[in-house]
Amino acid sequence: MMNDEATASVVEAIDEGRLWQRHMDLARIGATEKGGVNRQALTADDARARAALLGWAEARGFRSSVDKIGNLFIRRDGADRHADPVMTGSHLDTQPTGGRFDGVYGVLAGFEVMEAMSDVGWATRRPIDTVVWMNEEGSRFQPTTMGSAVFAGALSLERALAMTDAEGVTVSEALARTLLSAAPADMRPFAFPASAYVEAHIEQGPVLEAAGRTIGVVTGIQGLRWFGVEVVGQSGHAGTTPRTGRRDALSAAVAMVAALERLMDDRADTVRFTVGRFEIAPNSPNTIPNRVYFTIDLRHPDASTLGHLGDQVEAICRGNAKGCDVNVTQTLRSEPTDFAPAILAVIEDAASRLQLPSMRMASGATHDAKFMAGLYSTGMIFVPCRKGLSHVEDEYASPEHLAAGVRVLAGTLAKLAS
Ligand code: GLV
Ligand code: MN
Ligand code: MN
Repeated sequence: MMNDEATASVVEAIDEGRLWQRHMDLARIGATEKGGVNRQALTADDARARAALLGWAEARGFRSSVDKIGNLFIRRDGADRHADPVMTGSHLDTQPTGGRFDGVYGVLAGFEVMEAMSDVGWATRRPIDTVVWMNEEGSRFQPTTMGSAVFAGALSLERALAMTDAEGVTVSEALARTLLSAAPADMRPFAFPASAYVEAHIEQGPVLEAAGRTIGVVTGIQGLRWFGVEVVGQSGHAGTTPRTGRRDALSAAVAMVAALERLMDDRADTVRFTVGRFEIAPNSPNTIPNRVYFTIDLRHPDASTLGHLGDQVEAICRGNAKGCDVNVTQTLRSEPTDFAPAILAVIEDAASRLQLPSMRMASGATHDAKFMAGLYSTGMIFVPCRKGLSHVEDEYASPEHLAAGVRVLAGTLAKLAS
């Protein structure tokens, strides 16, 4: 078959019903009562989802492999087994009150394209790897995009493996348990050579829906800095201790957050600033809190603004410590990322051949593609999600939109792998 003809038959073979059914199958693993998913990284449910995918891969004759941080690779061989692969994929872990599509879609999209290629019996020249990045969400173990960061060398393997969850379980222990029940035999090195990386994802924002476009051609990802702030004061009896002279960790932490909110105020509303976790100890109504831990998620598309704002976090926390000890740790820093113009052009062309309305847009959320952009020619494809809602249990994307994005991915991978 000629490439154009083969590509058209692969696009034709994309099976909307099969794609939707796989989403619903995985959504049962870690399902919440309100219709969402809680399948945090390296939990028993995460292992079950990985095992389900490995089972589907085996049934199709695709080879699986893993690396030392638990990133999972499903390969469809190419005619030239020695050619560098084209990579696609995303993640299977979710937020604690996550939805059925964030991450899962990018993995199932890649898998559907490989299945469709097998259905029509086309051997691309290059192999295709669909990757499941370990711990994209960063809910159980910080930071976010952990697996891709280690793969790309932006975070050391040792540091990642030593991170603990709220119960004190390390990544290393949880990963060993996960691999017991879902372990491919082959081991892959980090940052192996590949010719390109393309990730499909739901948009997680309202832009495509409002514009009535089906395909987002993603130009890049805004910069992101994560901090953890620990405030340590002195406990005491709430009834007997005069307020003067208290070292109340909560009172200090609240003052810090209020001062940070003032710093982040911008008229254009471009700065993204979120305190998403707030832990208080001992968390008793009649005891003065002696320890507070809170997280900061700070994002901006402009590198210098992100630098300037983030660099003031520690001083502002110290300036509002009210006699408490303060420990500010930056747990992640990633600069704004631009994707490869050549990949964007291939995605745009694939969409226009299918007569799907597309538009260029930046990503507000972060993705594993950010770290791939430092290694390979990289791009992303977005599809709309209802009301732009994501990281919520009623996150929804329609079967038609999901399939449209996979058809564009198919056209893109076919071109890049030929
Ligand atoms: C990914 O989930 C992000 O935090 O942007
Ligand atoms: Mn995601
Ligand atoms: Mn997410």
